[in-house]
Amino acid sequence: MSLAIVIMAAGKGTRLKSQRPKVLHAIGGKPLLGHVIAAASQVIRPDDIYVVVGHHAKQVEAAIESTGVRFVLQPEQLGTGHAIQCAQQAIAEYADVVVLSGDVPLIRPETIEALRSFHTQHDAAMTILTAAPSDPHGYGRIVRAENGVDVDSIVEQKSLAPGQEKIAEINSGIYVFCVAALIRHLHQLTAGNSQKEFYLTDMAEILRRAGERVVALQAEEPTEVLGANTIAELVALDASLRNRTAQKLMAEGVTVFRPETCVIDAGVEVAPDTVIEPYVQLLGRTKIGSDCLIRSGTVIENSTLADKVLVRQSCIITDSVIGSDAKIGPFAHLRPGSEIGPEAHIGNFVETKKAKLGRGAKANHLSYIGDAEVGAATNIGAGVITCNYDGVNKHQTIIGEGVFVGSDSTLVAPISIGSGAYIGAGSCITREVPADALAVGRSRQVTKEGWAAAKRTRRAKQCEN
Ligand code: UD1
Ligand code: CA
Repeated sequence: MSLAIVIMAAGKGTRLKSQRPKVLHAIGGKPLLGHVIAAASQVIRPDDIYVVVGHHAKQVEAAIESTGVRFVLQPEQLGTGHAIQCAQQAIAEYADVVVLSGDVPLIRPETIEALRSFHTQHDAAMTILTAAPSDPHGYGRIVRAENGVDVDSIVEQKSLAPGQEKIAEINSGIYVFCVAALIRHLHQLTAGNSQKEFYLTDMAEILRRAGERVVALQAEEPTEVLGANTIAELVALDASLRNRTAQKLMAEGVTVFRPETCVIDAGVEVAPDTVIEPYVQLLGRTKIGSDCLIRSGTVIENSTLADKVLVRQSCIITDSVIGSDAKIGPFAHLRPGSEIGPEAHIGNFVETKKAKLGRGAKANHLSYIGDAEVGAATNIGAGVITCNYDGVNKHQTIIGEGVFVGSDSTLVAPISIGSGAYIGAGSCITREVPADALAVGRSRQVTKEGWAAAKRTRRAKQCEN
């Protein structure tokens, strides 16, 4: 039987009090809608997924275009029932439709499948995914029929009759419909409620009255169907998602100390025996090998670390690659395009950008290495700066293998230093240095014996007069 999935994502999200459309607010480093599409895409091909857009439609479409889903426009946001009315033509040829909410992001593909099987088993016209969270306030409530399986109606929070506030079972905003039954009765929705909206939830009562079967399946884990209508709810969902990721990594052999303090995006991969200390952020497409230690306060984004890498406290590593057994930090800043070779050391207050360091190269203290290549086993002394920018263009610094660059030297690019060369401390190097040469680029020291003592004597005499 053919299946479509419709994701309702046209709403404004008034309760977030934000300029950004609600479904583009991110949790776990990814927009709410991105999570829902990811789950739906594990159930069917993106070709059969229809996203209803309306509020800031162009912006929402642009953000998720690459997923290959189709779009349905809801020109005015007249409620969830109206959103599905707008999708009616698109889904008319399918047998069943799963309806998801763009602001209920933790839904798992397994649960969508289970809901659909339950729907088929019960030969229902409408099947509702429900839950019993600790606080049901704000959600539509499920009024069960006497047999406990069927549903009489869904009552929205604002329409609850006295006593109904106590109903613990809530509507998740996720449903399966038999398309034929849905389309037969969809036009019966009215906006006769306090919000003057067409509520999709009214379909339960409409179908039931028409003699169709409406059933509900309760999710075992209520957090999976929590919605995000306010910033506080968004942050709670984010915590719940990050926790899910940390738990998954731990199940795979990674140690995450104080996981509640760490921010780990869902797509991050970490190999076993790596230890992540508290207050670490691992973001985007970051990949970390085995036996690494990532110490507190470090933020790693879109970067790849091989095995046995030590990243000491408070490093920022972005769009970079680090080889095995390398040691980074503390307080190092690896900007995009940094490639740190195996066994290399990047020490405290060292900044790199578009810089490639060979095996065992070391820059241990207070340096800037930008637009540079540094050969294997080269030592960059404290305070060395590559002067890569002339105010208009960026220039390259090429340093060979086994070079010793003395402390506090400035290397004015474009420049190259041959393998095995020595640069005297405090040099300003402006011309090429051949292999195995010594280059010293500083003015000679002048020493005047007794000069300071003589000055003090003169000063003392002036004061007497
Ligand atoms: C809805 C349900 C409520 C349920 C809750 C679960 C209705 C009337 N109520 O309430 O029973 O407990 O979800 O989270 O359905 N949307 C559109 N077009 C519109 C209006 C909304 O596409 O005209 C989209 C929104 O972008 C959102 C989803 O539908 O992704 C749900 O809308 P929202 O306004 O958040 O509904 P709730 O009040 O949360
Ligand atoms: Ca909602």
